[in-house]
Amino acid sequence: MENIGRATFGSKFGALMATLGTAVGLGNIWRFPYMCGANGGGAFLFVFLLCALLLGLPVMITEFFIGRHSKKNATGAFDVLAPGTHWNVIGFNGVLAAFLILGFYTVVSGWTMGYMFQSLSGSLNGKTADDFTSDFSLFISSAPRLMFWTVIVVIMTHYIIYSGVKKGIERSAKFMMPLLFIVLFALTIRSITLPGAKAGLQFLFNPDFSKITSATILSAMGQSFFSLSIGMGCLITYSSYFGKTTNIQTTAFQVTLLDTFVAVLASVMIFPAVFSFGIQPTAGAELVFITLPNVFEQLPLGNLWAFVFYLLLAVAAITSIISLHEVVTLYIHEEHHVTRKKAAIYVSAGILVLASISSLSLGIWKEYTLFGLTFFDFLDYITAKIMLPFGGMMICIFVGRRIEKKILKEELTNKGTTSFYFFNIYAFFIKHIAPVAIGLIFLYETGLIHWIMNLLN
Ligand code: PHE
Repeated sequence: MENIGRATFGSKFGALMATLGTAVGLGNIWRFPYMCGANGGGAFLFVFLLCALLLGLPVMITEFFIGRHSKKNATGAFDVLAPGTHWNVIGFNGVLAAFLILGFYTVVSGWTMGYMFQSLSGSLNGKTADDFTSDFSLFISSAPRLMFWTVIVVIMTHYIIYSGVKKGIERSAKFMMPLLFIVLFALTIRSITLPGAKAGLQFLFNPDFSKITSATILSAMGQSFFSLSIGMGCLITYSSYFGKTTNIQTTAFQVTLLDTFVAVLASVMIFPAVFSFGIQPTAGAELVFITLPNVFEQLPLGNLWAFVFYLLLAVAAITSIISLHEVVTLYIHEEHHVTRKKAAIYVSAGILVLASISSLSLGIWKEYTLFGLTFFDFLDYITAKIMLPFGGMMICIFVGRRIEKKILKEELTNKGTTSFYFFNIYAFFIKHIAPVAIGLIFLYETGLIHWIMNLLN
């Protein structure tokens, strides 16, 4: 992490951009619409917004506190703030979560790259919605093709981490992120002007609250944590590079708002097209990949739009992959006294194994399941719905119980030079409300609550 623009992080803009780089990624553009489609549309969006604002934002501020106050990596931070205790287990949970996320995130990034090249070769031309759906099934069941793209993504990321060109990546991300916004806007306009688009907007903005179940709430909470990159130490590591004058509350607020905005925008881009082309909103992980080619088809220079879109999405994905890779690499490097370069090699090799298994679990190894889920879905479930909320809950408990309020306030107000109007509410919330809320959602969905109730009776 030494190279992640320490100099730029001194500026507020640098801190904001770096954090946005990890937050905005496939989670917003690929995962959010598919989760939303599978969990009832508007009702999911509503719960997601509540989770992002009421749980995500306070947890993010708390992670920023831990990172900037300790100036350490995900596990090291807990050793500094609570020496000689086992609180560093929270950091370890994060490191493991990062590694497991990489196991499926790199696979989806591989799909993005594959589609980018397909758009170049013009193979998206002149096809119907059904063709795009069967093309995708063919794409993910072709083991060599999938493996090829996954390997390319891992090698590219490894090269970036290994040669320390993160500054370059960050600089290009600063330029490509705004470009991604522009392309998203343009595609959204095309999508909402398609015939029958209204049904998609209704699906999204006319919530049917009867669709909210405990599974919807857990999915929405998991999605908010995943999308904001919280609960797993990534933001602890990043904020250890924040300058003394970086305003933690404003940065957290801006990141939450922008990240949520991208997710909503991506849905406004997807759902009108989903309904217009008669695609099932519950299609699952392939939703974005089977919907968007139809929109590109409707645009002049469709192949060019497709190419630019997949390229920008790949860049957004890679900035997130780097942050995930970094958490694991830094942990091995610092805690196990391995050189940075060696640590990076171990991590990349590990991802390659994990990603290969999860990639094949969608095709030829489909029948092998864990708890009824393919390996790919299992990695997604255990990280987003279990490990990240668990991490977030423990982070709140840790700061709420172990850290003096005075120290917390000093750090969050830059030693009293900025104001934090709702500090007392925030402190009460992370100590008493957030851990209980996260814990209950968690116990309820995993069925543990029934087990505990039975024990008590
Ligand atoms: N937030 C990223 C995204 O939305 C994914 C991610 C999760 C990155 C956790 C880092 C840590 O794509």
